[in-house]
Amino acid sequence: SDITVLDGIEKITGERPVFYKADVSVNADMEKVFNENKDAVAIVHFAAFKAVGESVQKPLMYYQNNIQGIINILSQMQQNGINNLVFSSSCTVYGQAELLPVTENSPILKAESPYGNTKKISEEIISDTVKSDKNLNVVSLRYFNPIGAHTSAEIGELPIGIPNNLLPFITQTAIGMREKLSVFGDDYNTPDGTAIRDYINVVDLAKAHVLSIQRLLEKKNLTNYEVFNIGTGKGTSVMEIVKVFETVSGEKLNYEITKRRPGDIEQIWADTSKANDILGWNAQESLENTIKSAWEWEKKLASLKTNKPD
Ligand code: UD1
Repeated sequence: SDITVLDGIEKITGERPVFYKADVSVNADMEKVFNENKDAVAIVHFAAFKAVGESVQKPLMYYQNNIQGIINILSQMQQNGINNLVFSSSCTVYGQAELLPVTENSPILKAESPYGNTKKISEEIISDTVKSDKNLNVVSLRYFNPIGAHTSAEIGELPIGIPNNLLPFITQTAIGMREKLSVFGDDYNTPDGTAIRDYINVVDLAKAHVLSIQRLLEKKNLTNYEVFNIGTGKGTSVMEIVKVFETVSGEKLNYEITKRRPGDIEQIWADTSKANDILGWNAQESLENTIKSAWEWEKKLASLKTNKPD
């Protein structure tokens, strides 16, 4: 991410977050953060790497950061008597499921990438640790495909270099930073031949974390390790996303159909009944508004660049 995110958060919430520049995989760094915040009541752990392709190139970097990171956090929580954790997991743990939509009880398949494996292993580490420590309570949220930005356009996605993910690639193409979008494959066994995902608004996703923390603090969790799917329950194809983008932005998107991207699954979407019924969470924002928020954010970034003094 980028340090300017702190300014965006302050503008939205009116509060500047306490910030440490620290490496989650370095235990000494985590020791300092935890020692100086002994009154913390819960941890939300977002500090993992998430680029699938990069994880294939640099698996050790992914295992070091994502696995050592969760180990350090759990052990610092134990040492400091902090009992509540919300962990960012991923629908990647389901691989290409045979039955759709996937529920939290769908089989966990062998991971397709080192990134996916770090999420699977992290869930196992958490599950083993809560079994050995009855004080510890953890919620893992299995994110589907988070997209969009805060509606204020004060914070949003900041991909470093060429984006891997669909939405930032679309908005960067429309703004003129990329020549064209490659649609990876139109020969999938789906209605329009392009791959299907469950795209979830990032603010809706953020709210699932707030509810998870409340649940843990109010001790409403039914077991000391709970897992929830966080998606909309609806699958959308790549071409449908392109069409919605064109409608809400009024821009014509330059795209071409290319071959499939290695490692991509054909289709997945969530059964969200457990999150709806037990966590009390529902995805609320429409796909149209979500994609519009991503576009507003891209335009804001472009205007900041134009107005920047040399
Ligand atoms: C992947 C991971 C997911 C991870 C997420 C965050 C898997 C199976 N999925 O999601 O766990 O949390 O990244 O980084 O490991 N597409 C194009 N052209 C593009 C970019 C994407 O057609 O330029 C298509 C893809 O083929 C896919 C869809 O758009 O069908 C979404 O792709 P992407 O945004 O990269 O997310 P996933 O690969 O689904």
